[in-house]
Amino acid sequence: MDHKNVVIGISGGIAAYKAVEIVSRLKKAGCNVHVIMTQAATRFITPLTLREISGNPVVFDMWTEVTNWNVEHISLATMADVFLIAPATANIIGKMAGGIADDMLSTTVMATTAPVILCPAMNTNMYLHPIVQENIAKLKQLGHQFIDPDSGQLACGTEGPGRLPEPVRIVQQVLGVLSIAGTRPKDKANSNGNLRGKKVLITAGGTREPIDPVRYIGNRSSGKMGYALAEAARDEGAEVLLISGMVDLSCPPGITRVTVETAEEMRQAVLAEFDHCDIVVKAAAVADYRVAEIQPQKIKKTGDTLTLNLVKNPDILKELGQRKAHQYLVGFAAETQELLQHATAKLEGKNLDMLVANDVTMAGAGFQSDTNIVKLLFADGRVEDLPQMSKRELAIQIWQRITAELSI
Ligand code: PMT
Repeated sequence: MDHKNVVIGISGGIAAYKAVEIVSRLKKAGCNVHVIMTQAATRFITPLTLREISGNPVVFDMWTEVTNWNVEHISLATMADVFLIAPATANIIGKMAGGIADDMLSTTVMATTAPVILCPAMNTNMYLHPIVQENIAKLKQLGHQFIDPDSGQLACGTEGPGRLPEPVRIVQQVLGVLSIAGTRPKDKANSNGNLRGKKVLITAGGTREPIDPVRYIGNRSSGKMGYALAEAARDEGAEVLLISGMVDLSCPPGITRVTVETAEEMRQAVLAEFDHCDIVVKAAAVADYRVAEIQPQKIKKTGDTLTLNLVKNPDILKELGQRKAHQYLVGFAAETQELLQHATAKLEGKNLDMLVANDVTMAGAGFQSDTNIVKLLFADGRVEDLPQMSKRELAIQIWQRITAELSI
């Protein structure tokens, strides 16, 4: 995690003392940690302690004389690879949901485009209060992630959900998000805004084909590759529409997401937008077949074998290839053997401009992994081999190739 920047906001709850361990663990993991405290947080724990643990100045007052512009709120907002708020009180959650920016923490988090993770910690009744739950739902809708509080005996004497989770769990989540998000300021610094004014459509994740009300046919796609492409396009200034299967990833800030379940739903969502798009990248793993007849009731365990009749799904990418006018069309190919041969057939058969081919049997490539190893195939026959790299870095490289091909 060398050089990854984590900004941690500490709001005023008794669990603020646990932030010391969070900062310490993030530092040990190699992160560069910057702390912002609310005034209330400084009543529970001193900025001095956090300054010593983080090794960076601690920001808590909007109005003190600026001594170091590098740590003021806009620079912290842009520098963040991940923005963590732990503990997050009902007050900071309410301010964020209501668009209030009246102190250093609330203004900085409003100015960031980094992934935001909140760790609510408060009295159980406060946490379960409909207003707090509504605010949490609103922030989730905006793409913010939440780590649910633990249940147990709280400092105020009540028992129930509201306790800040163990620092180790919070740090694991932050490191997981960092591994997907990459190093934003570096990316941003390298970003030329090449996709400004362009509308891009990206598909991600796997589709699910229902069998009966409780079962479906699915695949191993986590959505990481497609989401990395969406974030990299956003950072290049594109208007990004992400059409996603049902994955465990939150919608990244600054991106419009449409969630779909089946291949047919994905087809409808893609076709509805295709004509207005400049570039389409299809990273989703789409089911080639669906069940011919979805059973209205749960299938009972009767015979020793069960036969399902499958029918072919429409090939969305092929349809786009036939329909494309001005669009630049990029497909993916997930192969387990004869990568180049199968990938070339897909590039040609689907009338693509570029194809990203991955051998999903290779360690560090394909489904679920944080890295990928691919070959890029172009319509004029060129093939480029790329070494193993993070999906985030690969996404940047793919957009660089696309903008070069389009001379933009
Ligand atoms: O999501 P991750 O866990 O990060 O994993 C990334 C990935 C392995 C899913 C990704 O790198 C990848 O390879 N995506 C394409 C998976 C796939 O379905 O490949 P395919 O070879 O079966 O399909 C070829 C292309 O046609 C793909 O662009 C696919 O989106 C598209 N397709 C396929 C079938 C279909 N019915 N309609 C389609 O549009």
